[in-house]
Amino acid sequence: MTERLPATPDAIAHAADLLRRGELVAFGTETVYGLGADATNADAVARVFEAKGRPHFNPLIAHYPTAAAAFADVEPSDFARKLAAAFWPGALTMVLPRRADCPVALITGAGLDTLAVRVPSHPAARALLAATGRAVAAPSANRSGRVSPTTAAHVLDGLDGRIAVIIDSGPCPVGVESTVIDLSGSDPVLLRPGGITLEALEAVIGPVQRGAPIVDAHKPLLAPGMLASHYAPNLPVRLNATSFQLSARGDLVEAAAALFDGLRSFDAVAGLSGIAVVPIPQQGLGLAINDRLTRAAAPRGA
Ligand code: TXA
Ligand code: MG
Repeated sequence: MTERLPATPDAIAHAADLLRRGELVAFGTETVYGLGADATNADAVARVFEAKGRPHFNPLIAHYPTAAAAFADVEPSDFARKLAAAFWPGALTMVLPRRADCPVALITGAGLDTLAVRVPSHPAARALLAATGRAVAAPSANRSGRVSPTTAAHVLDGLDGRIAVIIDSGPCPVGVESTVIDLSGSDPVLLRPGGITLEALEAVIGPVQRGAPIVDAHKPLLAPGMLASHYAPNLPVRLNATSFQLSARGDLVEAAAALFDGLRSFDAVAGLSGIAVVPIPQQGLGLAINDRLTRAAAPRGA
C-alpha cells in the first residue's frame, strides 16, 4: 500500500526521511508528479526504473532546491547561468556536463557524462528537496510510455503499492513536463518542448536548435527520451478532428494544464473507440502540447 499524505510540513519531513533511506516517494511539481529517489543512491534509482517498467536506462532528471545546489553538481555554461536566472525555479531542465566530484549515481544519468538538472518552483517540491538535502532523481510518476500524472490519483492508478508515499499537493498547474535543453555542446539544442516556451528561451539566449525526436522505440536512444510512441492513453488517438477541445477559449496555458487529465478521462468512458483532437497552434505551449499529442497518436510499438 502506498501512503497518500497531504503536503504538510510533517508529511514532507517524513517523505524526506524515506528518500534518505532509499525509499521511493512520489511528489507534485508545477509540471507533473515525479517519482522520486535519492539520486546519489544507485539502488534506489534502479528501483525507480523497475517501478516504472522503463525498458532502457533512459537518463533521469536530478532535482534541486536551488540553482546553487544544482550547479555544485554540474558545470554551468554562460547560457545556463542566464537561463537559471530567468526561469529557475521553474519548468526548465538543463543538460550540462557532470563535475568530476558529482555525487549523483551514474545510473541516474544512464552512464552519460552529462546530467539533466532542474529546480522546480512548486512550494511542496522545493520544501521536500530542501529537507532531503540531496539531489532527487524524478521521472514522471507513471508506468513507462503511459500518460504523465497531473494528480495524486493519476499516480496511484499506475504505481499504487510500488512506492512508499505520495505527497499530494493537488493538481499540477502547468500540466506538461519541463522543457529540456541541452547546453553541453557549443550550440543549445531543444530536446523536449515543455512548460517554458521556445520563444521565451530564445528571448534570453538567442537561437536554439531543435533536437531530432527519436522515432524508433527499439533503436538505442541517441537523444534519450524522445520515443515516438509515448504518453499513450489506452484508446487510439487521432489528430486534427473537430470534437475534442482542451480549452474552449483557445487558451494554450489552460489547454496544457488539461491535457493529460483529458487523455486519461477518455480512457475511463465506456464505449469510446478513439480520441480525436482539434488542431493546436504550433506556438508557445502549443509546441509542447503538439509534441505530446503526436506521440500519443503515433503507431504503438510492440
Ligand atoms: O517536468 C519534468 O521534467 C518531470 C518532473 C517530475 O520534474 N520529470 C520528467 O522526467 O518529465 P522524465 O524522466 O519523464 O523525462 C526526462 C527527460 C527524458 O526525455 C530524458 O531522456 C531527458 O529528460 N534527459 C535526462 N537526462 C538527459 C541527458 N543527460 N541527456 C539528454 N537527455 C536527458
Ligand atoms: Mg515521462
